[in-house]
Amino acid sequence: MTQDTLKITDSRTNLTYTLPVDKGTVRALDLRQMKTSPNDFGLMTYDPAFMNTASCQSTITFIDGDRGILEYRGYPIEVLAEHCTFLEVAYLLLFGELPNETELKDWVYEITHHTMLHENTKKFMEGFRHDAHPMAMLVSTVAALATIYPEARNIHDPANRLLQIKRLIGKMPSIAAMSYRHSLGFPYVYPDNDLNYAENFMNMLWKMVEPKYVANPVLARALDTLFILHADHEQNCSTSTMRAVGSSHADPYLATAAAAAALSGPLHGGANEEVLKMLDEIGSKQNVSGYIKKVKEGHGKLMGFGHRVYKNYDPRAKIIKWTAEQVFAITGCNPKLDIALELERIALEDDYFVTRKLYPNVDFYSGIIYQAMGFKPEMFTVLFAIPRTVGWLAQWQEMLTDPEQKIARPRQIYTGHRSRRFLPIEKRALVGIAD
Ligand code: ACO
Repeated sequence: MTQDTLKITDSRTNLTYTLPVDKGTVRALDLRQMKTSPNDFGLMTYDPAFMNTASCQSTITFIDGDRGILEYRGYPIEVLAEHCTFLEVAYLLLFGELPNETELKDWVYEITHHTMLHENTKKFMEGFRHDAHPMAMLVSTVAALATIYPEARNIHDPANRLLQIKRLIGKMPSIAAMSYRHSLGFPYVYPDNDLNYAENFMNMLWKMVEPKYVANPVLARALDTLFILHADHEQNCSTSTMRAVGSSHADPYLATAAAAAALSGPLHGGANEEVLKMLDEIGSKQNVSGYIKKVKEGHGKLMGFGHRVYKNYDPRAKIIKWTAEQVFAITGCNPKLDIALELERIALEDDYFVTRKLYPNVDFYSGIIYQAMGFKPEMFTVLFAIPRTVGWLAQWQEMLTDPEQKIARPRQIYTGHRSRRFLPIEKRALVGIAD
C-alpha cells in the first residue's frame, strides 16, 4: 500500500521534503529537519491554544464536531445514556469494554466500598470558610487525599493505579457532598452501601433526621444520566491538564485536583454556573432579544453556547433537554427554562450565531435541571467534576501506558529582550509599572 505523503518546498533554501501523512496528520518533529543552516534549530509549528494539534493517540472518546457525534469506546452516547448506568459506562471508559453481569457486580461493589473518607478529611473541610466556593473545596480536598494515600505515588504499578482509580471514583461524591453540607453548616452524612452511585450521593447531600434516605428514582436516574453525559470528552482543557500534570509522574490525586482546577473556569466546566447567572440577569423572556443584541455588540458571551469542537448541536445538550422533561415532571418546571428556550430559539435564527456555528453546549441546560433538583449554582461544576473524574483517569492511564508519551513540554517563540546590560539599582530610571 502506498503511503500518503506531503511534499513541502522550503522557499528559504529551495529544498524539497517529503513527509509521511498518517491518520490525517504530519508529525511536527518531521519539520525539524528543515533548517536554513546547520546551526538552525529547525522548523517548528506555532499553535496557540492547540487549535490544530493532536497531542496523543487515543481509543477512548470519538467526537465528530461537525456532525454532532459523540462516542465512548465506539458506542454512541445516546445508546449509553439510554441503556447503561454511570458505573457501567465508567468501566467501559476505563477498560475499553462493557462489563458482563458479574464484572459489573464486582465493579459496583468495589467502587461502593471505596466511598468512605478518612476521618481526617473532615478536618480539612472544617478549615474552609462557610462561604468558600464548593469547587475550591473539592480541588483542595482531592489534592489533600495525596497526604492520606502516599503509596499513590507509585504510578508505575498497575494494581496500585487501579486501587487509586477506584478510590477516586468512590470518594468524589463523598467529598462533593461534604463541601455542600459544609457550606450549609449541616453535619456530614456517611455513605450508605445499600444505595447505588447517584442515590448514595443524594443521600450524602440531603439526608436529614430520617433513619434511611430514599431517593426519588426518577431524579436518581436523571443524575446518573447526567453523569454518563459528562464522563469524558477527549482532549478538552481539564483532560489535557490531567495528561500534562500526569506526564510528570505526579500522583493521581494531585493530577486530578489540577484537572478539576482547570474545569472550574467559566470558559470550561464553570460555564454551567455562569448560565444560571446569565438567565437571572436576563430575568424574563421579553428581555432575551435585548441581551442577545448586547452580546453581538461585544458585551460578554452567551454562556453555554459555542464549543471548540462542536460546530453543530452538542449531542449531550439534546439528551439533557429530554432528561429535563423527566425531572420537571417531578419537581415542577424551572421558570428559567422558558428564558433558555427563547434564548436558544432567537440565537439559532440569528446570523451572528449561525455563521459562527454557535450552538447550545452541554452546560446550557444542565444547570436548569440541577437547580430544579435543589442544587445551588455554585455546586454545578462540582456535579460536572464527579463523573469527569472517570474520563480524566481513563486518559491518565492511557497516557502512562503509551510508549510515545513523555513529559509534556511545549516550545515557545521567544519575543522578549536578549543580552541586556545590567544596571545597578541606583542607576535605574523610574519605570512605574508597579503603580
Ligand atoms: N457567545 C458569543 N459569541 C461567541 C461565543 C458565545 N458563547 N462563543 C464564541 N463566540 C464568538 C467569538 O467571539 C468569535 O467571534 P469572532 O470570530 O467574531 O471573533 C467566534 O465566536 C469564535 O469563537 P472562539 O472564542 O474563537 O472559539 P473557541 O473555540 O476559542 O472557544 C468556547 C470556545 C470557549 C467554548 C467559547 O465558545 C465560549 O467562551 N463559550 C461560552 C462559555 C461556555 O459555554 N463554555 C463551555 C464550553 S463546553 C465545556 O467546556 C464543558
